[in-house]
Amino acid sequence: MDLTLIPADVAKAHQAFASALAAAADLDALMRLKGEYVGREGSHAAGLMDLLKTAPKEQKRELGAAINGLKNAWEEGLKARQVELEAAKKRAASLASQWDPDLPPPLPARGAQHPLNRLMDRLVDVFRPLGYHVEEGPETETEAHNFDGLNIPEDHPARGSADTFYFQEHSGQLLRTHTSPVQVRVLKRLAPRIQELGGIRFLAPGRVYRKDEIDPTHSPMFHQVEGMLVGHGIGMHHLKGTLSYAMKALFGPGAEVRFRPSYFPFVEPGAEVDVRCPLCGGAGCRVCKGSGWVEILGAGLVHPNVLSYAGIDPTEWSGFAFGMGVERTAMMVSQTPDLRLFFENDQRFLKAMGGLD
Ligand code: DAH
Repeated sequence: MDLTLIPADVAKAHQAFASALAAAADLDALMRLKGEYVGREGSHAAGLMDLLKTAPKEQKRELGAAINGLKNAWEEGLKARQVELEAAKKRAASLASQWDPDLPPPLPARGAQHPLNRLMDRLVDVFRPLGYHVEEGPETETEAHNFDGLNIPEDHPARGSADTFYFQEHSGQLLRTHTSPVQVRVLKRLAPRIQELGGIRFLAPGRVYRKDEIDPTHSPMFHQVEGMLVGHGIGMHHLKGTLSYAMKALFGPGAEVRFRPSYFPFVEPGAEVDVRCPLCGGAGCRVCKGSGWVEILGAGLVHPNVLSYAGIDPTEWSGFAFGMGVERTAMMVSQTPDLRLFFENDQRFLKAMGGLD
């Protein structure tokens, strides 16, 4: 459009027109803008019409065309913006009419128990009716509780600083490598009263630490649940019956346990305990690697040295103990392929595990 014949102030206003139009946020503002540009009196358009009347004859044609061009551009712009603003007004009105003040507000997201804690609590719930109570031990332990009291020899590889977090060399202080030191603490504490109590039984869930690199099946911190029973004439059959009962309670009536001989210094005999794969029922799947069984526990009959260390006469008392890997079991049951998921607290994972609303 040729603006050379148009007075400078009008040309400038035209250049600002587009942004003035976009800035008109509602219909009232738009009407004011309309008055300013194309109103009957005092507008830019009215001024230009006066100019046209007084213009020299030979300029009239060109000036008239320029004025028409401007007026059309303004009118079209104003109209288009009016359509937009009217639609927006309608939308707002209909939204407002849809708002129902009687509807309850959306529920805030609720937190929930972590899947590992839930599994540990379930195990505690299974054992409580059998007379087991819950014990806790410190995560910073002494070598005496973590190793000596458990009949673990001086030269055992687990004692090395390659596997165990020590606070200072020769300090005797470490991060416990298993929940078994709780056995030593509880036996020592209750030894003086064992006759009166008629025996000892407890469960000890908690965190343990080992110098393992983080990968899909290892973490330097993980969880175990320790279980122990001491009484008169306790044998493998009691251990087998108890674990068989517990696994059925945990995994369903079809659950079965199988014992394989194994070695742990604090039990004799010792066993690794498998459960019939809760996912395939024993038919063989990826989780049990086709064998139909998965290992979840270490167990055995309490070594006489463990009882003696705590001041309990092993000729009178005997017992069993077991230790379960919590992450291992949780991964298997939930088919979680990577242990790290339990520690990242990604809400999508926790939700999928049924841990969040
Ligand atoms: N403390 C053992 C570990 O961390 C697990 C274990 C094995 C615990 C046998 C026991 C047991 O109580 O009897 O590998």
